Formats: sequence, C-alpha cells, structure tokens
Amino acid sequence: MSEKVTAPAIRARKGGKKLAVITAYDAPSARIADQAGADIILVGDSLGQVVLGYDDTLSVNVDIMVRHTAAVTRTKPRALVVGDMPWLSYHLSTADSVRNAARFIVEGGAGAVKLEGGRKRLPMIDAILAAEIPVMGHLGLTPQSVHAMGGMKVQAKLAEAARELVDDARALAAAGVFAIVLEGIPDVVAAEVTDSVPVPTIGIGAGPRCDGQVLVFHDVLGLSAGTPPKFVRRYANLAEDAILAVRRFFDDVVSGAYPSDAETYHMPEADRREFIAGRRG
Ligand code: KIV
Repeated sequence: MSEKVTAPAIRARKGGKKLAVITAYDAPSARIADQAGADIILVGDSLGQVVLGYDDTLSVNVDIMVRHTAAVTRTKPRALVVGDMPWLSYHLSTADSVRNAARFIVEGGAGAVKLEGGRKRLPMIDAILAAEIPVMGHLGLTPQSVHAMGGMKVQAKLAEAARELVDDARALAAAGVFAIVLEGIPDVVAAEVTDSVPVPTIGIGAGPRCDGQVLVFHDVLGLSAGTPPKFVRRYANLAEDAILAVRRFFDDVVSGAYPSDAETYHMPEADRREFIAGRRG
C-alpha cells in the first residue's frame, strides 16, 4: 500500500502529475474515491445541497461538517482528507477560526481545511496556519458568497476583477496555503493564476490549465438532481441504474419471488416440527 498523502506532498506536486480530487461526504463515497485513486478527498460544504437537500451551502455548520468529515476519515483513506470550513466558521475572529479549524483535525480526523476568499481572509488563514493546520484556498465563484455575488455566477470575467483574483491567489500562496481551488472563472484567468503561484491550482469550472481538477462525487456518478453546470462531465448514470434495481426489488416483493428459500433462515427440522405441533395444539 502506498504512503498516506499529506498537504506537503500535494504542495510538492506543483507542475507535476495532475491532482485527482473529488468530494465525498460519507464512508461509502470515501471508499470509492480512495479505491479509484484520489489524491485529495474534499469533504465539501456542497454536502448541504448534494446530500442534505438545502438550496445553497449556507445552512451547513461546523457540527455537520465535522460529523461528515469523521465518517470519511474512519475509512482510513490513503488520500489527503480536506474538511471544508462552512460559512461563518472563519469570519468572526481569528480565535474562533482556529478553534473551528482544529475541530476538523481533532474530531474529524482531517489532514487540512479549506476556506473561501482572498486577501480579506488573510488574518484567519495566518492564524490557522500558525496553529500548524494546513490550509487550502478557494477563489473565484465561492458558493458561500452567493448573495454577495448576486447568484452563482462565473467570476473574474472582466480584466480588473481578473487582476484582483490573480493578486488574491498570490497573497494566499505567500501566506502559505498548500493549494488553491479555482472555481467558475475563465480559462485564461485560471492559467494566469497557475503560472503565477508556486502552489497547485485545482480547477472546477476553470478550464484545463490547472494543476488538478475537482468535481462533486454525485455529479461524476450521475446521482445529483437537475441539470448539472456545463463544466460537469458525468461518467455514469447511477441514479437511473439505482431506480431500475430498486424497482426490480419491489417487483419481486409483489410477485413473491423475494425472498427465496436460500435467502430465508430455517429452524432445525425437529424443532420446526415441535414448534408447529405446539402452535396448533
Ligand atoms: O464544497 C465543495 O464541494 C467545494 C468544491 C466544489 C470545490 O468547495
């Protein structure tokens, strides 16, 4: 078995073999991601929408995130597990941010945390790093800013905003983050960031010129509801397969074909006879 992936090992992959990243929110998805060869398993706050049914990521809190992070790390994956810090868990004070980040490490068993935002988050990032907790940055379409952005819109489309984003990425890298997620930005901006920072960039809707790519587990497998964004590539249609499988089970229940004798527990013959005779007498 190869070595456990660490934040410094991810940092060292800059410009090397592309990083394969996917979300997972529970033990079964973590096992699948790890056996498929993930470098990083991200316990994203997207779980709020994907598995808890909320409209956005804002209703997820630290308790929920830590519980799901622990479910992932209990499978002991080789991949680095990154816990996503939810909205308001790193906005109020540096002390609060460090305390919350530490819960992902101690209770969740994660090897790093991720948080959204650029230079305005530097005091929190500095404090978390000073507590020896590796931090992954996240720039561009940051879902926790859905209201401030006026919706889930592609960011940095204009030159000035693109320059701001590149400066944010440089500042995060200088602070010491080990990687930066780039979400929902034009390809040319992602390429410029990738060329400008010494840490790996991990794209999602940011084109091919990143050091790695991340997608949501349920999107990859065709398990999510609705029409996915244009950057999603579905590699399976498991929801369709699952409906067919469950429907076959129901058909077998209705027809009596399930359970068969082999799927049924039996008593020893003598006890069976005694039991039936006693019941009738
Ligand atoms: O929450 C999440 O799943 C994420 C990824 C989409 C990067 O932040």
